Amino acid sequence: MKVQDRHYRTIWLADDGRAVEIIDQRWLPHEFRVVTLATVEDVATAIRDMWVRGAPLIGVTAAYGMAIAMANDPSDAHLERTWHDLNETRPTAINLRWALNEMRSTLSPLPPAERASAAYARAAEIADEDVTLNRSIGSHGLEVIRKIAATKKPGEPVNVLTHCNAGWLATVDYGTATAPVYMAAEEGIPVHVYVDETRPRNQGAQLTAWELNGHGVPHTLIVDNAGGHLMQHGMIDLVIVGTDRTTARGDVCNKIGTYLKALAAHDNGVPFYVALPSPTIDWTVDDGVKEIPIEERSADEVTFVQGKAEDGRTLKVRVSPEGTPGANPAFDVTPARLITGLITERGIADASREGLKTLFPERS
Ligand code: MRU
Repeated sequence: MKVQDRHYRTIWLADDGRAVEIIDQRWLPHEFRVVTLATVEDVATAIRDMWVRGAPLIGVTAAYGMAIAMANDPSDAHLERTWHDLNETRPTAINLRWALNEMRSTLSPLPPAERASAAYARAAEIADEDVTLNRSIGSHGLEVIRKIAATKKPGEPVNVLTHCNAGWLATVDYGTATAPVYMAAEEGIPVHVYVDETRPRNQGAQLTAWELNGHGVPHTLIVDNAGGHLMQHGMIDLVIVGTDRTTARGDVCNKIGTYLKALAAHDNGVPFYVALPSPTIDWTVDDGVKEIPIEERSADEVTFVQGKAEDGRTLKVRVSPEGTPGANPAFDVTPARLITGLITERGIADASREGLKTLFPERS
């Protein structure tokens, strides 16, 4: 995707061929900073503290972390230790464990001397695959937007509501939930996106709005509580969100607040789609509410907000009284029954075990 006319992915190999460079997302939208991750510790910090975030990008960053580890010490012990250290950085997005497992199964059978080059090659493949998957998700999701544009809104903008950031910043490129929107816009279909601000970290206000702005896609920022009202008034044609882990029966875990949007969409007959690449499906889990570990992040993310002061400085300010405790569950689970369809790289599945098995028969 383009930032001031230059094409960027969200992660790339540094010139030394060992470290990786990332867009440090903590400073967007006000500052565009690129930082280098040279050690496994750098990679772990970048994932844990959300310099990079979004399920697919977390996975790719961890894959490069394994490569950096192998360049320093390709022993079995180091491979295992790195797998565990990186796997512990964030508990909910399954792409992290998926990417680490991919790396381990590629590297373990190899003699240590061959591991570093194989690790960089596999990490680059995982990054490229992410872009390919997102393009396919985009073209399947585009069909949904095309249909609504043709049947329900001829000549008028199709209004999409999205939550959090499941855009190119959350992936290597294109994004998942945003890929159909970008493709619709490229095709000349009028689209307009209502962007949930997504407290506490404001990924919608800070990241999705920045992306859409950069690409000239019409959008409006709303507070997290506005979606239900807009749906009651016919102002939302469809919801598309991403996911951090989708279960074998189609329950969807995503950024906190997604469930409430799904309830409101269900109550108002608004189609609710989830866009996901298959590495986000956890085939070992069925009941998302009971079985998916929900990350509990620092209460500081609730009691403070970050923004740009009038003098141009990026500031963190307290929004609640000193001494008021905060709780910060970072994700929730939307049961499959509230989901209209899962937009995958292979097509759109019913949010059910049967629906997913139809598209992924090898998982039966
Ligand atoms: O805490 P974050 O910002 O990593 O959460 C990100 C989300 O919830 C995204 O919607 C999800 O990872 C899908 S990204 C394609």
